[in-house]
Amino acid sequence: MGARFTGWGIALPDRIVTNDELSKTLSTSDAWIQERTGIKERRIGGTVTSLGAIAGRAAIDDAGVNASDIDFLVLATSAADRITPATSAMVAHEIGLSCPAMDVNAACSGFMYAVRTAQGLLETGNKRVLVVGSEHLSRFVDWNDRNMAVLLADGAGATVLEYDPTENDILSFSLGVEGADAELLTCEHEGYFRMDGAEVFRRAVRVVVESSEKAMAMAGITSDELSLIIPHQANIRIIQAVCQRLNIEMDRAVVSLDRYGNTSSASIPLAFDDARKNDRIHKGDYALLTGFGAGMTWASAVVQWSK
Ligand code: UT7
Repeated sequence: MGARFTGWGIALPDRIVTNDELSKTLSTSDAWIQERTGIKERRIGGTVTSLGAIAGRAAIDDAGVNASDIDFLVLATSAADRITPATSAMVAHEIGLSCPAMDVNAACSGFMYAVRTAQGLLETGNKRVLVVGSEHLSRFVDWNDRNMAVLLADGAGATVLEYDPTENDILSFSLGVEGADAELLTCEHEGYFRMDGAEVFRRAVRVVVESSEKAMAMAGITSDELSLIIPHQANIRIIQAVCQRLNIEMDRAVVSLDRYGNTSSASIPLAFDDARKNDRIHKGDYALLTGFGAGMTWASAVVQWSK
């Protein structure tokens, strides 16, 4: 059986916050942020519900179907608008879905975890699943903490995954979590994101490389055969280190963090959108989608676009 990506959509707040703007209130600089992270600016605003609904509706339109054709909504977020109800209930209501809906929280791996969940839902009788990654991280940023304030941002991305008896886009998955490392990146109720950045950096490179190698081995391909790597957008230096270890030249990596910062579970679909707008998605090509985040979670998949 196959699962095909049939539509994609994104949502970004209008408000652009540049590094220079952050430098007015924080002890940082445009030069430091660009050199150490690759980020030039980010978008701030909206809610998980509002951004998720816009991205979800765009993905449904792009797939050429109606809200009534969606059998399940899986919404990945690490910044739910409320503890309860699940934000997916509000997104489903705004889009006009009448199907079941649930949230998934696997931090920055969330979109890939949600795609894996959707794949399972298709295997058990559902025809179309809407997967949304939506984040309003700025709400949980301490704007006096330069460690986090320069990194995190808001946005959403979505895809429609459709059952197909003959074609299959998702060739392999390698996911995991190491709860022993959970204290490295946390956000308490009513609190702010806190991170041991250097240690998260080291572990991120290791788990992304290991899970990517596993996913490629399972798919029966080597990194030479990849047209693109669409990685979680946390830090350009993480992407460079991963590509170097996997023998992937940087011109095969999709980078959108320069404009959007780290949008956690929205970052992979936002990067996909960037690649598509730049005509980098071609039928038959192999791509590696890979993410990591708090937990520590990780998730890598090899896809072959059928569209
Ligand atoms: O998406 C989920 C996971 N998140 C990540 O993957 C993030 C992973 N970590 C990182 O991206 C990087 O570790 C950071 C961007 C967070 C930090 O970069 P770094 O190169 O690891 O910096 P560092 O923490 O080692 O700090 C180097 C220096 C320090 O100064 P001293 O001690 O050398 O004088 C920091 O105090 O840079 C200083 N620094 C800053 N300076 C200006 C730290 N943050 C800033 C800042 N602006 N925003």
